[in-house]
Amino acid sequence: MPSLIFVLPDGTRRTVEGEAGLSVMQVALAEDLPGIVAECGGNAMCATCHVYAAAPERLPPVKDIEDEMLTSTAAPRRPTSRLSCQVEVVDDWGEMTFVLPETQL
Ligand code: FES
Repeated sequence: MPSLIFVLPDGTRRTVEGEAGLSVMQVALAEDLPGIVAECGGNAMCATCHVYAAAPERLPPVKDIEDEMLTSTAAPRRPTSRLSCQVEVVDDWGEMTFVLPETQL
């Protein structure tokens, strides 16, 4: 199972196992990770599941609907910004790191 490393705004790192096929957001919520709100439940309609990917080149490209919502993030959008509900965990990740923004609302 791939390991997802979440870096919280205070610098704390949390490493959790991620099941392939789940979204990064689903993994974070299941672990009660602070900092992911996910108001819309994963439908790419709220931008409160914003994360910064440490290795964005290893992720599938941003789709149009995600790109559109990334314009509405509370924290600044960066080239590494992703909506965690739109990123699916895959087995061959090994480890993947996501940095949580200061705020989601
Ligand atoms: S949970 Fe709403 S956009 Fe990801």
